[in-house]
Amino acid sequence: MWSISGPGPSPTDPPLRRGAGAAAAFVRVAEAVVADVRRGALRPGDRLPSTRALARRFEVSRNTIVAAYDELATQGWIVARGAAGTFVSGDLPDPAPRRGARAPAGVASRPGFALPEPPASPPAPLDAMTARYRLSLGVPDPRLFPTAALARAYRRALAAAPRRGALEYGPAHGAPALREAIAAMVRDTRAIPATAEHVLVTRGSQQALDLIARLIVGPGRTGRVVAVEELGYAPAWAALRHAGARLVAAPLDDAGLVADALPARLAAVYTTPHHQYPTTVVMSPARRLALLGRARADGLAIIEDDYDHEYHYDGRPVAPLAAADPGGHVLHVGTLSKVLAPGLRLGYVVAPTPVIDALARLRATVDRQGDHVLELAVAELIEDGELARHARRTRGVYLGRRDALLDALDRELRGVVEARAPAGGMTLWARVVDDVALPAWQARARARGVAIAIGRDLHLLGRARPYVRLGFARHDEAELRDAVRALRRALRG
Ligand SMILES: Cc1ncc(COP(=O)(O)O)c(C=O)c1O
Repeated sequence: MWSISGPGPSPTDPPLRRGAGAAAAFVRVAEAVVADVRRGALRPGDRLPSTRALARRFEVSRNTIVAAYDELATQGWIVARGAAGTFVSGDLPDPAPRRGARAPAGVASRPGFALPEPPASPPAPLDAMTARYRLSLGVPDPRLFPTAALARAYRRALAAAPRRGALEYGPAHGAPALREAIAAMVRDTRAIPATAEHVLVTRGSQQALDLIARLIVGPGRTGRVVAVEELGYAPAWAALRHAGARLVAAPLDDAGLVADALPARLAAVYTTPHHQYPTTVVMSPARRLALLGRARADGLAIIEDDYDHEYHYDGRPVAPLAAADPGGHVLHVGTLSKVLAPGLRLGYVVAPTPVIDALARLRATVDRQGDHVLELAVAELIEDGELARHARRTRGVYLGRRDALLDALDRELRGVVEARAPAGGMTLWARVVDDVALPAWQARARARGVAIAIGRDLHLLGRARPYVRLGFARHDEAELRDAVRALRRALRG
């Protein structure tokens, strides 16, 4: 080990000049001085050899020693006192570690305060995300994502961003261009008579649901009762519960949520009327009227989660509740997670302006604003019709996949699984005969690389229901056939 306080290099020391070059040589001289100080061979106030003497002793150029001393002086290990020479500093930057001192501990393994209960997490979506075949999820196929179109739009958005204020603090409501574009889109495709001031852009519908939950339920209003469909979307339930809501299960039948069966004294109803999650049932016109009537009579808020409006295969999509709501009861939530990709995190709320402004204020407390450059790019995709074209293209693809999955189930699992074609969406809701133990089938399927959701996972009270939810959009026809063969093999242990 190099030392400048000893007699000179020992025969076993590597020569200073070889190895990593001249720069390494001055670093090694500096390290040798620091090492001597740390082990006490050099003490504060000791005089160092002159640069000339040290260069001779180590057979390096004087410049190497000068560079090492400069570095050590900069770090505070040594001080130069002119003609008197160079000395070990009396005020070392990093005194030699004290013997017996404990190494600094890592981050504490527990908090030193009472940690409040975090929100209940939805059932294992990340587990499904690692399966080879992710049938439990109603997600789009990332291979169909319009990468080139978004890349072009993003490049333009980025170039225009300084001029359009998208690189600065901006409105928590969302980039104005995207609010305009979403308002035009919901007017044209959903018959909702909205303008930009009725739109809040969020990071996915999950943020919209969380903001709505916090606005309607808490704080100070904790304990308010919100009715949710008895089979439904756990992430929405988690947001409502964490805001302090007490959830009650509203019954469902083949016309959707049974509005007449809703209990009294509700604050809000959360519903998925377009394609009920997960049963895929389209809420009938009579039920829509009944629900809106109940909202008017009791002053209820209706949280309408219209998550997959673009994917309707039989005739025209049904207009949302928000299309016929002059009384201002409906908070209409939409997302681009299905028509584009969940990873973009873009969703929106359409509601009366005071609601939008209140939600924007809440949003600013946790998320100052969204990604306005991305929002400008997506606004362009909507304005120039690219999003609508993409929806049309993928609708055709997913319809083919829906039918391929139905075919495969009929061929491989007839008599076990009974599925009807859903009018829309990205998933089937299929009845399973009673003698199949669903949790065991689910576990064996997962071991074979296929994730499926079973009725119990999707019930508010965790009650067993003899159904499976099977997504068909993310995988192509051959993959779906392979997945269904694996499901058949997984029937038996
Ligand atoms: C009922 C429901 N709402 C909303 C979403 C979309 O959530 P996000 O927009 O947060 O990605 C989904 C996606 O699975 C859903 O099934």
